Amino acid sequence: MSRARWVAVLTVVSCSALAQPVDTRQLVKMPEPAVATLRAEMRENLVTLNEIVTLVVAGKVKEAGVVAEQKLGTGVMGQHRDKPVEARPGAHMPPAMHDLGRNQHKTASAFAAIAATGDREKTLAALPTLNAACVSCHLAFRVR
Ligand code: HEC
Repeated sequence: MSRARWVAVLTVVSCSALAQPVDTRQLVKMPEPAVATLRAEMRENLVTLNEIVTLVVAGKVKEAGVVAEQKLGTGVMGQHRDKPVEARPGAHMPPAMHDLGRNQHKTASAFAAIAATGDREKTLAALPTLNAACVSCHLAFRVR
């Protein structure tokens, strides 16, 4: 191969290595304290989700339901209402994002109701829906 061709090949290779993946999420601008509140809540969400999966796999289905309801269910909505408005994520969410947030809490409560029956098969079948409620928002929105 000629030197010119090598240069062309190397240029194409290095450009594709540098190419950034496309990020199609909508940027939602929130004050810094609201971002911090959101991210802290999210990290807890992940721990909770892991706790739920671990309990279901261990056959502790009803316990998984209790955790889902207490930490992710509809009762958690409005948990930041006592904070100043600049620290409340919900106050800065566009309606579509807020809907996904509410949907996540409703999904967790629906999951909890299924788990409360103690039926392991049905609870296992509902688990991906719980996870999907997190994923749907992550695919659509970012805050930074
Ligand atoms: C209403 C939308 C929404 C829902 C529902 C949602 N998240 Fe998030 N999550 C976000 C946004 C926005 C970010 C910040 C992304 C960024 O960095 O810009 C985030 C970030 C995170 C992070 C990273 C936190 C950090 O410190 O950066 C974790 C972990 C996470 N979410 C877990 C979860 C889990 C688990 C669930 C479901 C139980 C969930 N989220 C549901 C919107 C959502």
